[in-house]
Amino acid sequence: MNTTQKRRIPLLLQMALVIFGTYFGFILVFDVLLGQLIPKSLLTMYMVFVVSGVLMVYTFTEEGTRELTAPIKALVEDPSKRNIRNVVFVIVPLLAGYYTYSSMLPSFDPPTELRTIHPAPPNKFKAYGKSFDLTKLENPYRKFEKEDPAKFKEHVREGGDVYIKNCQYCHGDKLDGKGPYAPGLNPTPLNFQDVGTIAQLQESFLFWRIATGGPGLPDEAAPWISSMPIWENFITEDETWKVILFLYDYTGRRPRTWEHE
Ligand code: HEC
Repeated sequence: MNTTQKRRIPLLLQMALVIFGTYFGFILVFDVLLGQLIPKSLLTMYMVFVVSGVLMVYTFTEEGTRELTAPIKALVEDPSKRNIRNVVFVIVPLLAGYYTYSSMLPSFDPPTELRTIHPAPPNKFKAYGKSFDLTKLENPYRKFEKEDPAKFKEHVREGGDVYIKNCQYCHGDKLDGKGPYAPGLNPTPLNFQDVGTIAQLQESFLFWRIATGGPGLPDEAAPWISSMPIWENFITEDETWKVILFLYDYTGRRPRTWEHE
């Protein structure tokens, strides 16, 4: 390297250009070309490596280090730069102070997460390897309530077993949404005792929600991070209908039906 020849760009500026160039390069490649927002944490990590690498290269020789720090040294020590120095040492702390202050201001905006508690169900859905038509679907065990009350009671009891084995961990042994896992979940498991839940719903809606769980919710219900499992993978179709009987029986609520309206 010919040191007597004056470089066109001072080293400090060169270094800054390389760092900012890489930063905007990452953003260009990820956000613009790949259409994929780069996560902030990842970008920070990349930049830590880039900055350390650049610093290593630029301070490799003593001469380079001296040249790199010369403008900073001059700013601090050179008597002729007094005015610039005063301005820099006032403005920089003020800007930093303002930035800190403004990032600490509380925000009064409501949280943006919207929740559709009972999203519109699809007309048809797939579960248990079949396609179901929600407009026609009925609980095959409901008719026993009138026709054979003893048999009906038996089915409710079986539904209770299914519930205790599978559901109470989240929905609670009193069906009030206060199961042992509930405190760790958001959205919280639904409280079936509440009039806003199963009393407003048809049994077919419940069948759909239980069989397909959180992942079965339609896109409009997003952003949704429901932990409600996909029960078609764990309990049978019959067990699903029976647990529905149990939910209504235990809470003393009636399923919503079209005939009664
Ligand atoms: C791991 C926890 C967990 C378990 C276990 C669980 N649920 Fe849920 N369930 C949830 C959560 C959380 C919600 C609320 C979010 C949603 O609707 O997806 C929910 C919602 C529901 C709903 C929707 C009710 C409505 O008003 O829209 C029904 C019905 C339901 N669960 C039934 C059951 C049944 C029956 C079982 C057992 C077979 C069960 N759940 C087991 C977590 C769970």
